[in-house]
Amino acid sequence: MRSLVIGLGRSGAGLHLPVLRRLRDTAGRGLLADARIVGCDPAGPGTDFGSTEPVWTASVRQAARLLDPDETVAHVCTPPTARVPVLTELARHGFRNVVVEKPLAADTGDLEEILRLRDSAGLRLAVVAPWLASELTRRLVNLVHDGRLGRLRSVSVVQSKPRFRRSLSTTGHPTAFDVELPHSLGVALRLAGPAEVISASCADLVLGDRRMARLGGAGMRLRHTGGVRTHLMSDLAAPVRERRITLRFERGTATGNYAVGSDDDHAQLMVAAAGLHEHSVFPDDSLGLCLLNAYRAFAGRTEDRPGDFELAVDVVRLIAAAKARPEIADERRLVTTGRTASHVD
Ligand SMILES: NC(=O)c1ccc[n+]([C@@H]2O[C@H](COP(=O)([O-])OP(=O)(O)OC[C@H]3O[C@@H](n4cnc5c(N)ncnc54)[C@H](O)[C@@H]3O)[C@@H](O)[C@H]2O)c1
Repeated sequence: MRSLVIGLGRSGAGLHLPVLRRLRDTAGRGLLADARIVGCDPAGPGTDFGSTEPVWTASVRQAARLLDPDETVAHVCTPPTARVPVLTELARHGFRNVVVEKPLAADTGDLEEILRLRDSAGLRLAVVAPWLASELTRRLVNLVHDGRLGRLRSVSVVQSKPRFRRSLSTTGHPTAFDVELPHSLGVALRLAGPAEVISASCADLVLGDRRMARLGGAGMRLRHTGGVRTHLMSDLAAPVRERRITLRFERGTATGNYAVGSDDDHAQLMVAAAGLHEHSVFPDDSLGLCLLNAYRAFAGRTEDRPGDFELAVDVVRLIAAAKARPEIADERRLVTTGRTASHVD
């Protein structure tokens, strides 16, 4: 399979290209073609790819002249607000195997259009969900199912990082709900099953006299049908990076830390219960695993992973429900005090 990476920004050039190059020489050898990756971005080829790749094109039409769509995986790494035109263009030029960055859509209108397009054009869509492919998540799922800590009671996730530069210079993510929460929400649904939103919060990003509406942070509380409660909180004005998940069981607690950046792909897990304290650190190349799973499914070497696409659809719907909560819709009640935002608890 050859690769076409559409959108050569932080995700396309900074994450997908290096992971594809690495996979080609390791676990993906023989599956990923030993041929130059094609990139597509009307804004230009970007600046620092660290090698001669990719072959740059300005449109999907140009890229289609260089590739056989049947033997190509297209990676849609454009901002969430630019999914529908890119997928329409890919379908028009015969591309069917598509990896789409999270979130699958920016709102439910786009989501319905994408689902229609998928059905009418026969697109095979795999949504990038590194946390679902992650080794840490696999271990957490095992803890939920093996029952040694009793029943799962609650899930809470903290996703903190400073995101000033990107929020001040790009417009592709309409709110803080669209930045980090798609990762943790997918995991919460995998661990505890279907859920409804019971409350949500959102804060502005404040830097000096500049204010970016709804980009400072977001939080949501969920009630799962099985009774588990989930609290997700993303602070985009934090001075430090952290991606921590805590699972509280009847008889113990599991605390996991996902890798916080592409420079060190190790995760950690601590399990504590009466008379038990386990701490493990392990490699967790979750984006690599996620892309490899997609290529294997597209090449027919494995079945499509059942449920993952439906989970991505549920994530978009629940994030839309959170954004539509009365407390979020009412601008006057937005918390606008930067780091002291009330969603940080
Ligand atoms: N930034 C991250 O660390 C990160 C990590 C994981 C996932 N993501 C996801 O990846 C997606 C992209 O985010 P990003 O941070 O890379 O954005 P970005 O702004 O850095 O890059 C987006 C690129 O897409 C290009 N683009 C826009 N419209 C296009 C079109 N129609 N055709 C081709 N190219 C087009 C832009 O010119 C830009 O270069 C988002 O959905 C985001 O949630 C980002």
